[in-house]
Amino acid sequence: MAENPLFVVIIAACFSFTFSTVVSPESNEYPKFQSRTWDQAITMAKSFVYQLTLEEKCNMTAGIVGLCAGNVLPIPRLKFDGLCFKDSPNGVGGTVLHATAFPAGIHIAATWDRDLAYKRAATMGKEFREKGINFALGPMMNIDRNARHGRNWEGFGSDPYLSGENAFVYVQGIQDQGVVATAKHYICNEQETNRLYGITDKVSQVDISIPKGYSTNLDDKTMHEIYLWPFMSSVAAGVGSVMCSFNQINGTPACQNDKTLKGLLKGELEFAGNIMSDWGATKTGVDSALGGLDIDMPGNDGLMGYALLPAVQNGTIPESGIDGMIVRILAPYYLLEQDQGYPSIDLDRNVVEDNYEINRQVSTAGIILLKNTNNILPLNITMDNYLYIYGAAAAQSNKGLGTGLFAPQGGVLYQGGGSGFVVPTYGIDPLGALMAKGREFHLQIRYVTNQNDYTAINESFHDRGFSNAKCLVFISAFSSEGYDRHDLYALNNGDQLVQTVASHCANTIVIVNSVSQLNLEAWIDLPNVLGVVWSGMPGAEYGPAILDVLFGDYNPGGKLVFTLAKNDSDYGTDISPTYESNYTEGVFLDYRHFDKYNTTPRYYFGYGLSYTNFSFAKLEISEARNGKHSASSQYRERRMRPYANFGSSRLYEPAYEITFTVTNTGKISGSEVPQLYLGFPAEAEEPSKVLRGFERVYLVAGESEQVTLVLTQKHISYWNVVNQKWTIAPGIYTVWISTSANNADVKLQDSFKV
Ligand code: BGC
Repeated sequence: MAENPLFVVIIAACFSFTFSTVVSPESNEYPKFQSRTWDQAITMAKSFVYQLTLEEKCNMTAGIVGLCAGNVLPIPRLKFDGLCFKDSPNGVGGTVLHATAFPAGIHIAATWDRDLAYKRAATMGKEFREKGINFALGPMMNIDRNARHGRNWEGFGSDPYLSGENAFVYVQGIQDQGVVATAKHYICNEQETNRLYGITDKVSQVDISIPKGYSTNLDDKTMHEIYLWPFMSSVAAGVGSVMCSFNQINGTPACQNDKTLKGLLKGELEFAGNIMSDWGATKTGVDSALGGLDIDMPGNDGLMGYALLPAVQNGTIPESGIDGMIVRILAPYYLLEQDQGYPSIDLDRNVVEDNYEINRQVSTAGIILLKNTNNILPLNITMDNYLYIYGAAAAQSNKGLGTGLFAPQGGVLYQGGGSGFVVPTYGIDPLGALMAKGREFHLQIRYVTNQNDYTAINESFHDRGFSNAKCLVFISAFSSEGYDRHDLYALNNGDQLVQTVASHCANTIVIVNSVSQLNLEAWIDLPNVLGVVWSGMPGAEYGPAILDVLFGDYNPGGKLVFTLAKNDSDYGTDISPTYESNYTEGVFLDYRHFDKYNTTPRYYFGYGLSYTNFSFAKLEISEARNGKHSASSQYRERRMRPYANFGSSRLYEPAYEITFTVTNTGKISGSEVPQLYLGFPAEAEEPSKVLRGFERVYLVAGESEQVTLVLTQKHISYWNVVNQKWTIAPGIYTVWISTSANNADVKLQDSFKV
C-alpha cells in the first residue's frame, strides 16, 4: 500500500538543554491524521461484517500466525489485508530492527510533563505507523502497588490520577498518528508471580492443572478509584483496544470476567472498541466469548476462532454475538482510517529519523535529583575535572545491547525486560558519553566498572592528583515481565559498592538506574554521599541525558512517581506468594498509606529537587468559567478528538479552576511541578489527601507564571458503592498546592464548599 501523502510529520528540529531554554508547551508541531467518529466506524465495520460467512467470522475471533506478535486474518476477496498487533509501550519492541528505545513508562511519568508525554507517544506512534503496524500494544497502566512487581517499569507509578493522565496523552499521541493504542493489562495485574498456570510450585504443591492465574480480590470502591481509573481515562481518550490480563478478578479469569469486561468496561464506560486477550490469558472458548472477550491472542490455543463454530451453530453463542465481536475488532481500524492507504508491513523499515532528539529530551526531563548536600551538583566542568567512575551500570553490558530481554544484565539499563523491551539500535552509556566530554573539556577520568573487583576499587583511590576528585557511583536494579523482584536492593551488591567508594571519597555522588522502588538505606545518610540522582529507565539516550543533569546543562525537574520507603515493610503491600492476592489496603496505597499510618518515608511521592528555587503565591479557587480563553475551555479542547469516547464525558466537565502563581526565585532557569492534593468531606471516605492535578512549569530566572489547574466533576467525586455512581459529597474540600506528597512541602492552601 502506498504511504499516506498526508503523512508529513515534522519533529522539532532543535532541542537544546541549556538553562536558557524553556521547553515549549506547544504540541501542534505534530500533525494529526484524519479520523472518524466511533459511530461512523461502527457503521463501516457492520457493513463489512455483513459480507462475511459464518466461518470467516468465527475464524476472526482468534489471531493467526504471521509477521507480528498478533495477527488478524486477512480476507483478500474483500481487500482486507488483516491486522498487525505489536509490542510495546516503550517503542516498537520484539526483535525488529531500526526502532527507537524510548525512556520507559515509569520514566515519562517522572517528567510530570504532559506535553513531553504526548511528544514521546506521537513519535512512537509514527514509528509504529511507518512500519505498517495497526495496533500498538501499549500503554501499560497497571498500578505500582507492589514495589517488587517485575513490570512496574512499563507503567506510570503508584497513583491512579497520574497514571490516568499519562494514559490519556499516550492514547492521543499514538492514535493521532493513526495507530490503535491498546490499554493493558485489564485489570488488577500487579504481580507476575503465579500469573500463569502450569508452573509447578514444588514447595506449595499448587495444583498446576488449575487453568487460571492468581486471583486479585478487591472491593468495588478500590476497583473504581484506583485500578479502573487509568483505564477509564484511556477509554475517555478514545482508546481502540484493551488487553485483558492473565490473572483472575475476585475468582473469575480476567478474559472471561463478565463483570469487568461487560459490566465495567463495555457497560459503565461505554467502551466501543475490542478486548483482546493477553498472550495466553484466554482460559476458555465459549465462556470467554460470552463473557466479553472479542479476540483470543495469539490464537493458537484452539479455544476460539473456528472452534466457536459449533457453539454458534447450536445457538449457545448467538450469531449476533459473533457479529458484535467482529464489529469491535474492526471498528478501531475504520475509526483511525486504516482502510485508506495505511503503510504496508515492514517491521525492519528504518523509521527512526531524528527521533533521538525527543528521546534525549524525555530522558533528561525524567531524571530526578534526590539529594544535593552543599550543592555538590551541578558539577563545574572546569573545576570538577577529576572524576572517578564506579559501577557496572556506568558502561555497556558485556553481553550486548539486545540481551536485556529477560535476564538481568550487569551493565547499563536502558529499559527493563520482557515484551516491553525494545532492542536499542544503539545506546549511549554514561561512561562512553563522559569519555567524549572528557576529550572536549580535558577531563581526567578513572574508572572501575568491574563491581566485584574490590582490589581495583580500593587501589584506585591512590591515583596521583585525584585526592579531591568527585566520585560517581552507578548502581542499577533490573526487573522483567514473567517474574517479580526478589528484593528491593541494587544489583550485584550495589550497596557495598557505594559504601566502599564513600569510605574513601568525600565527594560521592550516586546515580540510581532503577526499574522502580529501591531501598537506599544502606548508604543514603553516609556523610560522604553528598549527591543522589535517580536516572530511572532512561532509554537509549541515557549517557547524554545524565551528563546534562550532572554538569548542569539541564536543570533537573523530574519527580518521584512512587514513595521510597525506609523499610520495605512500610509500603504495606507486597506480591502474594499464593494464588490469592487480597487488596485489603483498599484505596490506601503509597502516599495515602504513609499518611494514614503517619509513617515517614525516605523520599515522598512527588519529590524531586532543582538547582534553582521557586515561590508560590495568590491561590484562588473559582467555579469553572466558560469564556473562550478560560482554562476550562482549554481543558475541554485538549481532550477533543473525533475518536474520543463521550460515554463518561459529563464526569470530565470542569467544575473548579484553581489558580496560583509560581516564581523562579533563583538565578538559573528550571522547572517545578506544583501538585494539587485534595482533601474530601468525610462522607467520601477518602484518604487524607489524593493527587488531583499537576503541571510542570518551566521558568527562566526571576520569571513568574500564573498556573490554572482544572478540577472536573470526577476529580471531586468518590465512587458510591450503594448508588453505583460517581458522587460528589457535599461539604468542605481542601486544596493543597505542594511540591511533593510531604505535608511539609505544602506551599498554598485553601478550601471550597460544595
Ligand atoms: C505480555 C503483553 C504483551 C504480549 C505480546 C504478553 O506476555 O503480557 O504485555 O503485549 O505478551 O507480546
